[in-house]
Amino acid sequence: MKKTTTLLAALAFTLLGSSLAQAEEEGLFESIFGRHKEITPVSNKTYQDECGSCHFAYPPGLLPSKSWEKLLTAQALPDHFGENAELDADTLKEIREYALANAADKSDRKRSRKIALATENIDAPLRITEVRYIKRKHHEIPEKMIKGNKDVKSLSYCDACHTQAKKGVFDADTVRIPNYPDWDDED
Ligand code: HEC
Ligand code: HEC
Repeated sequence: MKKTTTLLAALAFTLLGSSLAQAEEEGLFESIFGRHKEITPVSNKTYQDECGSCHFAYPPGLLPSKSWEKLLTAQALPDHFGENAELDADTLKEIREYALANAADKSDRKRSRKIALATENIDAPLRITEVRYIKRKHHEIPEKMIKGNKDVKSLSYCDACHTQAKKGVFDADTVRIPNYPDWDDED
């Protein structure tokens, strides 16, 4: 009897195996493991100051470490999305270490786990907005509310719509799209 139960459990796990990662990305295990949902907010002042002057300082838990490894180098920063975001060696070292230690794949927060899973088997994305999980969450928002919206301009400006982005909170309940107060009712 015990043996049969063990065998059945093993079989169930084998069958589930292939879709476990997918199930986790879809959030099926949240209720079981009770993971804290939101992203860990930025806690390093140097990172906050240096990386928060042109756009809001993206919490490192929004990208896997392989992405931060590519973005945060002395070679990459002078040509950072068409801007010069160069840093002196000491500042770069501090920021890079902070980002790598707090990257999505180092976090147990639910959204970071989803980002880590969505990027596990692909080349490091250089943008958060390229990550499959993030793209899927926004694909229904019409362009007129993003690029065509003078108070948003691009999906990269998370905090234009996510009113609590600085606290790491991206819940749909806290979204407010500038100039489109009723975005939720439109098609
Ligand atoms: C001189 C201005 C400037 C500074 C300083 C700067 N950035 Fe950026 N960053 C940009 C621009 C411009 C973009 C592209 C925005 C767009 O496409 O609309 C960008 C995009 C990004 C993106 C991709 C966002 C997306 O679309 O998903 C990441 C990640 C990023 N920056 C991280 C950083 C980090 C980390 C630092 C600190 C080392 C930093 N940035 C400092 C100008 C800057
Ligand atoms: C134009 C406004 C806008 C911008 C800019 C924007 N978002 Fe969103 N985001 C939304 C809306 C609207 C939703 C909710 C979609 C829905 O109804 O499920 C959403 C949903 C999300 C969700 C899922 C929330 C949930 O509870 O399921 C995450 C995570 C998220 N956004 C992260 C980001 C990040 C990170 C950025 C910046 C790189 C960003 N968003 C930029 C409007 C925006």
